[in-house]
Amino acid sequence: MDFDVKLQNFEDMLKHLLTLLMTAAFAGTAFSQVLQKPDDYLKSEFHKNRREALRAEMPDNSVAVFFANPVRNRANDVNYVYHQDPNFYYMTGHREPHAVLLVFKEQQQIRDERLDELIFVRSRNALAELYDGARLGKEGAMEQLDFKLAFEGPDFEAFNLDFSKFDKVLFYDFQDDVRNTREEGDLYDLIEQFKEKVGYKSDDLAIEPQSNNIDLTTLNTIMKRLRGVKLEEELVLLKKAINISAVGQVEVMKAMKPGMSETEIQGLHEYVFKKYQAEYEGYPSIVGAGHNGCVLHYIDNYKPAIQDGELILMDLGAEYHGYTADVTRTIPVNGKFSEEQKQIYDLVYEAQEAAARICKAGIEFSALYQATADIVNQGLVELGLYKSTNPEDMVDPETGRNRYYPHGCCHHIGLDVHDKGDYDILKANMVITIEPGIYIPAGSPADPRWWDIPVRIEDDYLITEEGCELLSGMAPRKREEIEALMAQDSPFDDVVLPELGNR
Ligand code: GLY
Ligand code: MN
Ligand code: MN
Repeated sequence: MDFDVKLQNFEDMLKHLLTLLMTAAFAGTAFSQVLQKPDDYLKSEFHKNRREALRAEMPDNSVAVFFANPVRNRANDVNYVYHQDPNFYYMTGHREPHAVLLVFKEQQQIRDERLDELIFVRSRNALAELYDGARLGKEGAMEQLDFKLAFEGPDFEAFNLDFSKFDKVLFYDFQDDVRNTREEGDLYDLIEQFKEKVGYKSDDLAIEPQSNNIDLTTLNTIMKRLRGVKLEEELVLLKKAINISAVGQVEVMKAMKPGMSETEIQGLHEYVFKKYQAEYEGYPSIVGAGHNGCVLHYIDNYKPAIQDGELILMDLGAEYHGYTADVTRTIPVNGKFSEEQKQIYDLVYEAQEAAARICKAGIEFSALYQATADIVNQGLVELGLYKSTNPEDMVDPETGRNRYYPHGCCHHIGLDVHDKGDYDILKANMVITIEPGIYIPAGSPADPRWWDIPVRIEDDYLITEEGCELLSGMAPRKREEIEALMAQDSPFDDVVLPELGNR
């Protein structure tokens, strides 16, 4: 939009400034009335219920304290898109920075009320809201987040709560990586003031526990237990994120051609995510062809032209209303697996199937890895890539890991891609990945015909009492099904953009 503001003289300039300031002053109210939000976010009842669940698990006479995520600077005056801390989001539904939540085990006398929770949020600010959109403010926090009482950040310093009266003050240790924005009551101030209030001595932490009532471990134990098992409302969002991600894989399988760039392929996946209203990627997208696919978390996605004959490994997850999928497909760029690619692919597929067959509530997490490793290791011996399944024949002395299958196979997904959860026994309504892989980079001891073959197949499963439900099945995994899909036309085939030339 082009504004042609011609200021004839100083008087005009003053008038113009005044108009801008008045617009700013009214912007907060005006925006909050017209802003549209999706109606399928988790409801405030969900978050309130999670605070109840936390309270039920907290020790007697304790308080739990959660801080919002910091704003991260990208460069100069541009910040990264804000992402709330998943624990904070789970407990509040609040998506703004600069906030602190207090959950009390027992009701406390706060002013003239008996309360078991409190939140401090950013103050309203008309000018800031003009640029960045409406803030909830304390009234909004009470109304929309369902708190009986909310305060603003700048109120925290003078907030008169004696933390020494609690047997335990539960919180996560600080990372000391928060910028001081110099705005009163920002996250930096909240943390510093909290440290002061509870007598936190950061210098002691690495060596020994704090001598007072500070407890830096119990909260994580509780959060793992709570977040590791998904509620129905969470499953709705998680399944949506997973289906969106699987459709991304399907569309890219149809569109894939030698000569496309890794970035372009990433863009097609992410276009599908956005088409379905997924806000973000749950983690930086991994799109690596040939050698690049052997880098486990390759996110440069730089290769300008993927080559006929290469495999491309695509590990991408849409984040939908906070919940992230984690789905990987590995496909031949030209639509047909070579003989060597087939052998490695089928081994990874069989490994994944073996883990999925035994996956159900009650079994140990570690059994899943073992099921995949048994197939991969034995298969690699049969193909001549390992001499034997003795550790000395499989372990790369430089990394200390299994040379061609160097990572674990399963993790929880949810608000984090590597979500909070326990890793001992599987429980119903956990959602986990099963993601075996084999990566044979050029230069490895294998015969060169195997070089630069990377295969990871990663799917998302809901654990049930009887077994597990494959949630990412919209994207084919079987070799023949992938090849058949890749032979289909794609709507992206018809997308032709102009040559930029030297313009
Ligand atoms: N996308 C990261 C992982 O699979 O764990
Ligand atoms: Mn994963
Ligand atoms: Mn992944």
